[in-house]
Amino acid sequence: MNPVMDQSYNDKRAAFIAAVPKAELHLHIEGSLEPEMMFALARRNGVELPYDSVEAVSAAYQFANLQEFLDLYYLGMQVLVEEEDFYDLTMAYLERVRRDNVRHVEIFFDPQGHTERGIPFDRVMQGIQRALDEGRDRLGISYKLIMCFLRHLSEESAFATLADAEPWLTKIDGVGLDSGEVGNPPEEFARVFEKCRDLGLKLVAHAGEEGPPDYVWQALDTLKIDRIDHGNRALEDAALVERIVADGYTLTVCPLSNLKLCVIDDIGESPVKTMLDQGIKVTVNSDDPSYFGGYINDNYHAVANALDLTIEEIAALAANSFTGSFLGADEIAKGQAEIDLLMRRTAEPE
Ligand code: ADE
Ligand code: ZN
Repeated sequence: MNPVMDQSYNDKRAAFIAAVPKAELHLHIEGSLEPEMMFALARRNGVELPYDSVEAVSAAYQFANLQEFLDLYYLGMQVLVEEEDFYDLTMAYLERVRRDNVRHVEIFFDPQGHTERGIPFDRVMQGIQRALDEGRDRLGISYKLIMCFLRHLSEESAFATLADAEPWLTKIDGVGLDSGEVGNPPEEFARVFEKCRDLGLKLVAHAGEEGPPDYVWQALDTLKIDRIDHGNRALEDAALVERIVADGYTLTVCPLSNLKLCVIDDIGESPVKTMLDQGIKVTVNSDDPSYFGGYINDNYHAVANALDLTIEEIAALAANSFTGSFLGADEIAKGQAEIDLLMRRTAEPE
């Protein structure tokens, strides 16, 4: 019998997803702003929202493409004003994902989404940083912080953001590239990424979410990134897949995000299994969980059910989340050992 047709196997797999230690490598902290918190912060800061209720916010989250989402994402983040707001936002995310057995996070933040409306860079950093340190000490979640450049803004604005970040560089582990992809190719940010590389920062970029395979090539060859965010459309180019496999790049795929933003029409079209089968180091992530209807384990469950993933495949996804992280070798080995232990326990007869 196909084991995945077996209800007891499905139950075992669900329990495995819940229990397996994992890292989240693709999470925009501003995208974890839940409607309830949006309303509370709007009230606290006297910010007007174009919604009457929490329910109206959730109802507005219907997107035909990335830009429709981004419009509401930038609107929502306007309630983030004080250091405490950034702290509360980050702490709420960490407390939520601790329940999903997340042991390590590599969090994106979008400083230009705040500095462009007059919020000082230092205030954003202080709030996020304080929560991350507390989450590490109190919840046992390690972290890396990745500052993203908004690609719809200019290279000059990216350089100005890097200048703001310079006093904080001991606390920032990497830089990324996000926002509207099509029409804003990676190569436009070659010089700022080169400077970041010289500063010793890790480099990632959203590529191949809506944009063509050529943008993924540019991210690899021009920006010289260490990891690819999304990368769905890389599958359209066999030579690109060969390159990704040969050089061992990790892809941070976000299944529920892909569905909500119409990158795919059905969760069964998620590329996660195809990527695993092709030898790509794919990981599962939530992207903007408050906007896309699920945190990391919801994403694991969604693809496991839709693609009939085996427990071994789930374990591979979790293992990829550690090997693809910017953690040191000892911490990666620790994560892998815990996954292996859980695999052995799961294989034992009840
Ligand atoms: N910013 C937040 N979420 C994003 C996504 N999925 N793609 C590009 N930019 C983003
Ligand atoms: Zn993203």
